[in-house]
Amino acid sequence: VSVALVGAGPGDPGLITARGLELLRRCDVLVYDRLVSPELVAEAPEDALIVPRERLEQDELNNLLVEVGRDGLDVVRLKGGDPFVYGRGGEEAVALAEAGVPYEVVPGVSALAAVPASASIPLTHRGVADEVRVLTGHSAGVQSSATVVVFMGREHLPDVCARLLEEGIDGSTPAAVVSRGTLPDQEVVVADLGTLAEAARSVPGPALVIVGEVVRLREALLTTARLALVQA
Ligand SMILES: C[S@@+](CC[C@H](N)C(=O)[O-])C[C@H]1O[C@@H](n2cnc3c(N)ncnc32)[C@H](O)[C@@H]1O
Repeated sequence: VSVALVGAGPGDPGLITARGLELLRRCDVLVYDRLVSPELVAEAPEDALIVPRERLEQDELNNLLVEVGRDGLDVVRLKGGDPFVYGRGGEEAVALAEAGVPYEVVPGVSALAAVPASASIPLTHRGVADEVRVLTGHSAGVQSSATVVVFMGREHLPDVCARLLEEGIDGSTPAAVVSRGTLPDQEVVVADLGTLAEAARSVPGPALVIVGEVVRLREALLTTARLALVQA
């Protein structure tokens, strides 16, 4: 795999993943975000080309990743938190996929989970809060195209889907059940919300249910991600 979109974690350099650090330590090119710890940037090899993200517009950055990826160089695109949580990692992955450049996504510890924990605030707590709502400063209060994620939903999938339909989510909205995510036997069932319960009837746990238009991106992203796995 030539390009890796790597999550650096929320700030503390110790919170990058082992896989992320391994790729960082042997990259030819590092492109890093402003919020990434300088200690992590210093982990790149001395002779690596190091590019701060803020010097580039998003289009320029996408083109750079495609070009250096095509040259077969090992590129680490190091992003704060997790690449696919408010990180524009999806846009970079789409650019790479469309260009046919093999890439890998290395998830990171998102501020979503890490920052509340660091402040001694559990995001969920039995009897206190059993749902988490995530907004941005741009979307707060506005009817938005939210992604819904359901933990522990597999055992009650027909009820979960019925509740989301009752809440007004259209039955044609794309939806997925991801079982045993990140493990070698990961399974992904994609359907629409109206048919998901039947389609995912027999998947094993643990599983997450994901509902929203973002599920459609998977088809485009998978093309080269699958290639990357084969070549790895
Ligand atoms: C563009 S978003 C990137 C989020 C990132 N991809 C993630 O998964 O954490 C940046 C925002 O995340 C939040 N954030 C990131 N790191 C943080 C930290 N160490 N402490 C508090 N908030 C943080 C802030 O709201 C910041 O404006």
